Amino acid sequence: MKGNIVASLDLTDEKKLISMADQIGSSVFALKINWPTILSCGKSIIGKLTKYSNVICDLKIADIPNTNRLIIEQISRENPWAVIGHLFTGTDSMKALLDNAGGVKVIGVASMSNPGSNVYLNPNFEKLVEDAKALGCYGIVAPGNNYELLGSVSKIKGNLKIFSPGVGAQGGGYKQAIKAGSDYVIIGRSIYENPDPLKYISELESGNENHIT
Ligand code: XMP
Repeated sequence: MKGNIVASLDLTDEKKLISMADQIGSSVFALKINWPTILSCGKSIIGKLTKYSNVICDLKIADIPNTNRLIIEQISRENPWAVIGHLFTGTDSMKALLDNAGGVKVIGVASMSNPGSNVYLNPNFEKLVEDAKALGCYGIVAPGNNYELLGSVSKIKGNLKIFSPGVGAQGGGYKQAIKAGSDYVIIGRSIYENPDPLKYISELESGNENHIT
């Protein structure tokens, strides 16, 4: 586990997923998986991937407190490093995740990278970040393709770590996201669809981004 890149392996073929995890797991900070992978491979895939790197389960959990508790209890048994949950459902729902995470870090969604999130979610980032701080989340999600919003989140983040998707396929730049305040940069398609993902990762980290994008 090294650096500040989180590889989002949104793959549904378990063989390909494990092969990619084996190839890049020790060169990234964490591997992130999402619903497509868990629906296809089952939740035991979480435990299988922990052999290669930290695992972040991007489930964007967003339900009533009791259901959030039931979900996090199932997920935490597989020992991921962190899970992602929504903050917009309110402090009671996020508190249920934090209270039942059993050592798994909880990252709250304070803003998103898709343009549609500018209507409802992103205008409320300040309150969502304040809730994440007050409740004791480990980190928050803020977009790596919207530097102005990322910068504004960064100014009020306190001790929270910022995880930023939106880099690569969604148009954001690795260097610019870090400059705007991102602590960890989440990259999916630009890694797992890349013919040489290790070269791509090392070029990003050595500041050679212009050469490859
Ligand atoms: P790509 O292929 O676009 O994959 O690099 C990005 C990954 O991150 C997820 N994603 C987000 N997760 N807040 C999140 O918590 C966001 O704003 C966001 N945008 C993208 C996406 O589902 C995929 O797994």
